[in-house]
Amino acid sequence: MGKILVTGACGQIGSELVIKLIELHGSDQVVASDIKRPCEIFKNRVTFHYLDVLDSAELKKMVAEEEIDTIFHMAAILSAVGEKNPQWAYQVNMQGLINVLETARLLGVNKVITPSSIAAFGPDAPKDGTPDDTPLNPTTMYGVTKVAGEKLLQYYFLKYGVDGRSLRYPGIISSETAPGGGTTDYAVDLYVHAVLQKPYVCYIDKDTPLPFMYMPDAIKAILQLAEAPAEALSRRVYNVNALSLTPAQIVAAIRKFYPNFSVEYQPDYRQQIAESWPHSLNDDFARRDWGWQPDFDLDRMSQDMLEKLKIRYGK
Ligand code: SER
Repeated sequence: MGKILVTGACGQIGSELVIKLIELHGSDQVVASDIKRPCEIFKNRVTFHYLDVLDSAELKKMVAEEEIDTIFHMAAILSAVGEKNPQWAYQVNMQGLINVLETARLLGVNKVITPSSIAAFGPDAPKDGTPDDTPLNPTTMYGVTKVAGEKLLQYYFLKYGVDGRSLRYPGIISSETAPGGGTTDYAVDLYVHAVLQKPYVCYIDKDTPLPFMYMPDAIKAILQLAEAPAEALSRRVYNVNALSLTPAQIVAAIRKFYPNFSVEYQPDYRQQIAESWPHSLNDDFARRDWGWQPDFDLDRMSQDMLEKLKIRYGK
């Protein structure tokens, strides 16, 4: 069996995915890559390659040399940063993905798993229980690249038989690596500020609902999708749903532990992005095809998150 490569391994999801893959398969079976240098998260626990996913020659060389047979392609520019520099987001997200798919095609990589997002939907999609198949008219460049990425995955499967798989992640709440440049980052910031006992100014209005998922569920989902037998899959891209939360609901859950936690709301340009996305997704296909089911509700997540952050920040 070949090894598993994770691109964007130093990012919010990539970093925890690498740790989980090491637990499951052993450190000699996992290769981490990122453009961040130095990236010290893994503390010599795994082979780490500095890699820009835009460098297709280097990517191919590494995949061949390391005998990679599964790629988790996690390197991407997120929505908020993407709106500041849409051309760069296009370049990294689209060229990065096609480089990975081309590498997979040419070198016979067995599987490519890469996340899509709730950002694939735009304002005209149904807000609640948004189905997998519905209009995809995103209003962010990030969303545009996610929709195009989904289609590219489908194309490579139909034309070349590359086994690409994707899931539409909601905002991911996690305690280990900070998210970078997403619209949903405030959810993590709320918990961090509570633990540091600092007031927080939230850039999303208090009653704006968005879909969220706790990191252990996010890791579980992507691994379940990756491991599902090919014949169980009825599609390439799956909605996954866990929580639908407003900032006010998250704050109320945090205040059960930190009653004096103070939050002010000052919506900025990210409010419009949040309002263009669904509140919750219908994930019947993921549940039926590969047994998806989240474990964490708001209270369980909040308790776990706060405990982990207290340790992390020595509180
Ligand atoms: N968390 C992402 C973002 O906010 C959504 O996919 O950009």
